[in-house]
Amino acid sequence: MTDTPPQDDFDPHVEETFDSPHVEYRRMRAECRVAHSSAHGGFWALTRYDDIVAAVTDNDRFITSKINVIPNMSLGKRRPPLGKDPPEHTPFRRALDRTLRHSRITSMEPALRAHAARELERMIAAGEGDISSDFATIYPAWVEVEWLNLDPSNAPLLAEVARLYNIAWRNENLDAVAQTSAKLYDVATGVVEDRKRNPRPVESDPASALLAEETPDGPIPDAYIIDTIRQVLVVGLMAPPPLFGAICVHLVRHPDLQDELRANPDRIPAAVEEFLRLYSPYRGFARTTTCDVEMHGRVIPKDDPVTMVYASANRDERVFDDPDTFRFDRENIRQHLAFGRGAHQCAGAGLVRLEMRIFLEELLSRTRGLELAGELEMTRLPELGPTSTPLRFIPA
Ligand code: HEM
Repeated sequence: MTDTPPQDDFDPHVEETFDSPHVEYRRMRAECRVAHSSAHGGFWALTRYDDIVAAVTDNDRFITSKINVIPNMSLGKRRPPLGKDPPEHTPFRRALDRTLRHSRITSMEPALRAHAARELERMIAAGEGDISSDFATIYPAWVEVEWLNLDPSNAPLLAEVARLYNIAWRNENLDAVAQTSAKLYDVATGVVEDRKRNPRPVESDPASALLAEETPDGPIPDAYIIDTIRQVLVVGLMAPPPLFGAICVHLVRHPDLQDELRANPDRIPAAVEEFLRLYSPYRGFARTTTCDVEMHGRVIPKDDPVTMVYASANRDERVFDDPDTFRFDRENIRQHLAFGRGAHQCAGAGLVRLEMRIFLEELLSRTRGLELAGELEMTRLPELGPTSTPLRFIPA
């Protein structure tokens, strides 16, 4: 351990444009692959693909049970599954995975398509709309309602919470985070109380699957189940606004790609994967070191937080040739880290792929063009991409 604080290699508070973070991460990958910033109480950032994969698959030296995002706004709570390390993490994850198998995801397609079509119709009929703060808050809210079997009346509330939470988080406003978090806890508590009285099939109901799960110490305590439902509400709501916004900016910049996908919708799943790589909306999740870790000539001290910058790894030129360019022909595309890697790799990846495919199919088939209708507003760490993406729709 050193007594003097390490030098600052980057400033996470710098004003960003749509493209600027990627220029900065290219510099960091070249000049300071193990980078330090004194912002947010001091933290490290890994930016190269290989370093990140090595760290997130090393559960002994890089843990999630202390801090999982920077800035840390978790209000002192370590919610499962992200806030637990293996082996405590395993039963939570096993229960959620049971409800996200291929057959369950496939069975959700008609309902999700109906929600996407209805919400898009509304915006396209109006001629203009904000794909990030409008569609990409309400449509993922419907996805959560369908997956968690919530009462439909919760969808507008979840969409509103997603908007509020994003603003509160960006402004590092702990009071607002606490208030919005309480609303999500109300939803989570309600569903767990109901499933205790009326259990549902464990293959199709996350709360029931968690209640039925056995750990070496018996059933999972109710408080942890409520924490888990609360967490999955948020992970599913926060990523789509910047991701869907960034995809639309890309499509506006490349009308030829829009035409290509309209003419060949069978290419949309490949486009989904490349969009995930290019516009990873969770720019980085954090781990904490359990001992001094030496990496490439620097020592990350024990107990220091380290952000794994997935968005940078996905444009690492050592792994993805010509990384800033959209391409259909990447043989290693499935290696991208938009969903992370290792024990905490996204449980909802299959559902997200379906959600995105439906979004693109419904958007492109209803329009013949897209234009930007105003200024973009960009989010900050831990997300990446626009929180406001005003669009003009040219109907088909
Ligand atoms: C665009 C949408 C999404 C993206 C980009 C995304 C990405 C991610 C990433 C990168 C992680 C890893 C966190 C880490 O390394 O610490 C993660 C974890 C997780 N995601 Fe997603 N996610 C999305 C949507 C969803 C949805 C809709 C669900 C629910 C069905 C979900 C459920 C989870 C869960 C439960 C975890 C924690 C897994 C664990 O700790 O074992 N995600 N997600």
